[in-house]
Amino acid sequence: MSNAVHVVARHFARPEKVREVHEVLTALIPLSRAEPGCLKYELFQNDADPTDFTFIETFATDAALASHAAAPYVVALGAKLNGLLAQPSDVRVYRPLAVDMRDGRTTDPRWTRVDDYLEDLFTPADATLQAALDSAGAAGLPPIQVSATQGKLLHVIARALGARRILEIGTLAGYSAIWLARALPAGGRLITIELEPAHAEVARANLERAGVADRVDIRVGRALDILPRLAAEAAGAFDLTFIDADKVSYTQYLDWAIRLSHPGSLIIADNVIRDGAVTDPTTGDEMVDGVRRFNAALAADPRVSATAVQTVGVKGYDGFTAAVCM
Ligand code: SAH
Ligand code: DHB
Ligand code: MG
Repeated sequence: MSNAVHVVARHFARPEKVREVHEVLTALIPLSRAEPGCLKYELFQNDADPTDFTFIETFATDAALASHAAAPYVVALGAKLNGLLAQPSDVRVYRPLAVDMRDGRTTDPRWTRVDDYLEDLFTPADATLQAALDSAGAAGLPPIQVSATQGKLLHVIARALGARRILEIGTLAGYSAIWLARALPAGGRLITIELEPAHAEVARANLERAGVADRVDIRVGRALDILPRLAAEAAGAFDLTFIDADKVSYTQYLDWAIRLSHPGSLIIADNVIRDGAVTDPTTGDEMVDGVRRFNAALAADPRVSATAVQTVGVKGYDGFTAAVCM
């Protein structure tokens, strides 16, 4: 994808020429709008200094900017403004960076725009999934479920594996569970573990509405209490495990997931990049430290072959790991 190019041009009119400069610049707007690839061409005037006019132009590509700069009306601008300006114009090129901060997290408007675009293509409107999101919001659950495209990825992976037994650690409202359960063949089973009874209640209703409740077993309690029970009752081996609960315990969840797997099983863990904080050992954030311990343990564990991938999207900047059991 090409980076949009922004051009910011400041023109400083001599006080008695302000109106004339304004007219010269404004006359460019319809001309420039005709330029292919020119998305926006706006004129601003500085409140504190009426001689300071600023154009902000956005071009889709470098090529669009180059053809604009060579256009006759732009080439002639210098001559038109000659004698009208209080000081030389200041023209600069800017490229957008992913530095918008929301709640202290990195974001970029393109990430949401592209996720919207991908959702239109790959995850068309689905009343059941939307109802699950709505019910989670209405119940005051945190909006931290996987995104639609991530849910679809889990679904695609489960299908590709032909997974008949799936384990999820961290149910929340059952959103990712619906994606996973829909990938199960007849007779397949998803066990999903949730600490909070209130979350499990919302999830139960959502799985019911999705028509997959018969295939899904919600186990309520601390995952570290329930995982040994699953081992004791020989609930595995799981073909696919999705780790997505409290980050502090991820390393222990990994160990249980491997013990509950068979050669060829896949283990996926969410939220392993944490806005890039994962490279910083000094954050003092126990979630970041938990994920750092997990990534290191995963990389060093001879029972798996693993990697991690960074992601951006509606949920910001994060990532997941994937590990295949040997
Ligand atoms: N997988 C879900 C999101 C899970 S959010 C989805 O994408 O739709 C993480 C969930 O893990 C929360 O509901 C939280 O209550 C639960 N959780 C936190 N600590 C836990 C623990 N110790 N044992 C089990 N679940 C836990
Ligand atoms: C957050 C996101 C998650 O996917 C999750 O499992 C836990 C927390 C978050 O954005 O804070
Ligand atoms: Mg998550």
